[in-house]
Amino acid sequence: MKTNPFKPTAGKTPPVLVGRQSVLDDFKFALMDGVGAPGRLRYVTGPRGVGKTVMLNALGDYAKSLGWVVVDQTAEPGFTAGIIQALRDGGGNKTMEAITLPSASVTTPIPGVEASVQLGAVELRRREKAYNLRQAIGGKLDTMDESNQGVLVTLDEVQKTSIEEIRSLAIGIQHLIREDRNVAFVFAGLPSMVEEVINDKVITFLRRAEKDHLGSVDLQEIWMSFERTIAQYGKNADYQVLNELALATNGYPFMIQLVGYWAWRYSDVNGHDDVITAEDAEQGIRRAKLKLGDMVHAPAFDGLSAMAKDYLLAMSQDDGPSSTSEIAARIERSPQYASVYRAQLIEEDIIESTGYGYVDFKIPYLRDYLKEHAAHHQMKMTLQKMMEEGNPMGADGNDM
Ligand SMILES: Nc1ncnc2c1ncn2[C@@H]1O[C@H](COP(=O)(O)OP(=O)(O)OP(=O)(O)O)[C@@H](O)[C@H]1O
Ligand SMILES: [Mg+2]
Repeated sequence: MKTNPFKPTAGKTPPVLVGRQSVLDDFKFALMDGVGAPGRLRYVTGPRGVGKTVMLNALGDYAKSLGWVVVDQTAEPGFTAGIIQALRDGGGNKTMEAITLPSASVTTPIPGVEASVQLGAVELRRREKAYNLRQAIGGKLDTMDESNQGVLVTLDEVQKTSIEEIRSLAIGIQHLIREDRNVAFVFAGLPSMVEEVINDKVITFLRRAEKDHLGSVDLQEIWMSFERTIAQYGKNADYQVLNELALATNGYPFMIQLVGYWAWRYSDVNGHDDVITAEDAEQGIRRAKLKLGDMVHAPAFDGLSAMAKDYLLAMSQDDGPSSTSEIAARIERSPQYASVYRAQLIEEDIIESTGYGYVDFKIPYLRDYLKEHAAHHQMKMTLQKMMEEGNPMGADGNDM
């Protein structure tokens, strides 16, 4: 059996990164342009499954190919310590010892850390962390040929809950840039999450970051990548089959891998060792849509507020673009109230405006998924609301 080249797994590098050459080129220029190039501070955003994580990987791979040291972290508690640890593991350097600043009110001899009575404990800890990061990255750079190579830090799944550590990292990076060190920083997250971080009141430095807003990919490029990948791994698919596969993705990156993977898989199952037939493709596409529900629609939907969910469920009653005033009526809210949720869903790349007073789904097949699961989600939400009102299973204590 021939190896299936498609990788429908979150964060897994696909056989071909379709339609993202311009982002890669931008970043290449930024690294070539030398210290201080604006594109060295950037962020990648877009909806679930659009390819943020694999883009961070691709940028990291490119930097590595130039001899850069790349540290990849996810913005979970303790990630700053993780960065320091990673730099230490990748070749020890004694300047990387973490320091602990006195928590009280003395002036410290450490440059950049002007602790004073005015500084609160939080502020002090933030600067201490920033200082340690700066030392760790700077120390690493000292061991390198800094005229050619630098340190790239990537931070995935940025979110508000990690804001304190992100502030420290931002301060650290800001200092390094100011000192003309050879550094780059790229972070990624869902639109609302990165926006919160960018618009932080305490640290404004990240507002200067360049934005890569990832969206859907050109169908023609997808068509060509299917053709090339399938042939390269030893099967054949005719023009019409390639059309079906490409169309079924709707330009959505995760769907490229799902459709490719399942079409390939069904061709194996159906005993077609050298070819993907129209029937294999059809079965694969059906399966890919189901998988998209589990892997993208369900987590994207679950992460929303109850009102946003109501809004989407109301939209899913339509078969095409929905009238916003009609949606407001369906969820029994004023148009003003409904528009708050509409704006949130647009920012989150889940729906889009399709003309005055109309919205439509932006994530492919989400409508079908919601139609199919509406009853289930309604029930879950009713339970959720009952729980929130402190009345789990009805006041009479009947546990069903
Ligand atoms: N440009 C692309 N071409 C082909 N496949 C891609 C592309 N971008 C992403 N993929 C594939 O889509 C899937 C999802 O990618 P990834 O995990 O990077 O998305 P994400 O934006 O990080 O999602 P999440 O918000 O859930 O973290 C992976 O299987 C990946 O291989
Ligand atoms: Mg990701």
